[in-house]
Amino acid sequence: MEEISPGLENVYIKYTDLTFIDGNKGIMRYRGYDVNELAEKSSFEEASYLLLFGNIPSKEELKDFKNKISENLALPPYIHEIIKNAPENADALGIMQTALSALSETYINYQWKRDNDLKLIPKILGNTLSIVSNIYRIKNKLPIKDPVFDKNYATTFLKACFDKDVGEERSMAMDSALILYMDHEIPASTTSAIVTASTLSDMYSSLTSAIAALRGPLHGGAAESAYKQFEEIGYPDNVETWFNKNILQGKKRLVGFGHRVYRTYDPRLKTFKKYADELAETENQKKMLEIAKKLEGLGVKNFGSKGIYTNTDFYSGLVFNEIGFPLYMFTTLFGLSRISGILAHIMEYVETQERLIRPRAIYKGPGEKKYMQVD
Ligand SMILES: CC(C)(COP(=O)(O)OP(=O)(O)OC[C@H]1O[C@@H](n2cnc3c(N)ncnc32)[C@H](O)[C@@H]1OP(=O)(O)O)[C@@H](O)C(=O)NCCC(=O)NCCS
Repeated sequence: MEEISPGLENVYIKYTDLTFIDGNKGIMRYRGYDVNELAEKSSFEEASYLLLFGNIPSKEELKDFKNKISENLALPPYIHEIIKNAPENADALGIMQTALSALSETYINYQWKRDNDLKLIPKILGNTLSIVSNIYRIKNKLPIKDPVFDKNYATTFLKACFDKDVGEERSMAMDSALILYMDHEIPASTTSAIVTASTLSDMYSSLTSAIAALRGPLHGGAAESAYKQFEEIGYPDNVETWFNKNILQGKKRLVGFGHRVYRTYDPRLKTFKKYADELAETENQKKMLEIAKKLEGLGVKNFGSKGIYTNTDFYSGLVFNEIGFPLYMFTTLFGLSRISGILAHIMEYVETQERLIRPRAIYKGPGEKKYMQVD
């Protein structure tokens, strides 16, 4: 008898050489390299190259890759207009999705070929840096500006947003966040992109599908929801009462906890937690951090035995805030980080499997009915 697999749990749709996750031991690697080691020692552009091209680049390869990204930081004027004309209260991730979707217009009848794909990658990475920094600028009433490449992708992005150097430590934190969020095997967003790519639609359209899925609070929106949860608690002294009233009584789920794959701590957490600790400067940032730590303690104490532990999104919002970003940018920053991973997965899928994804649903509705026209 046919059966469904709710949430596609334990359904495998592709082989991959990209990201390895051991959810029981809390291990995550990109092409064999530990993700925390890459976050500490590598850069976004080097780790992207690794995922997309298959190896750690030589000095020359890296230079060439960075040059190509920097050549693609300027957006066509019609994309500037889309960003400028977004309603004041438009969702930042929604604007990113719309801009990417508009760029897909020039790729109708896209021919998936490794050469074409690899050529398009630096363009997409340059375009997305520019789109996201300009979304931040527009929301902060700053004029649209084409970014200028500076040192590395993370620093370029931060300077493009803030028009100033935010310091070495914040740039490093941004670079690490971009690496840690770069890929995570095939969560809902990447799967959506793979479904779209399996129809041989173009790369920009596939990314648009991924961004749409990323938006939900069960996925990309979790960092924002976790931060809002800390705001709702308000003070470290309120943590226990809030937890008993809301979580233990089952009124809410503890956001930033639990994961479909991990039965232990999300391995990326330790780097985010380190930066959250190091960068907390203002009274509010220190207060938020204290709330988070207290809440984490209660969460692990109560849910750890069920295999529900802290996930990355519990601390990443604190880090984004400490770098200087407002709440509404969190999911968009996640989106920016994830572009390389999504591209690597869709290329891998189309190149190695190239099979249209078309699952089935088991029909449970009424039997045949006779149609009667309503007068
Ligand atoms: C991410 C998430 C959707 C994955 O969950 P899942 O694999 O679908 O697991 P389920 O929703 O089936 O939950 C399994 C059990 O754990 C409990 N659980 C899972 N996450 C929980 C959480 N964050 N708080 C409280 N209980 C939780 C469920 O209530 C359920 O308990 P039950 O078996 O007694 O009914 C879930 O953990 C969640 O909602 N987390 C909060 C949102 C979040 O942090 N998302 C970011 C993910 S990276």
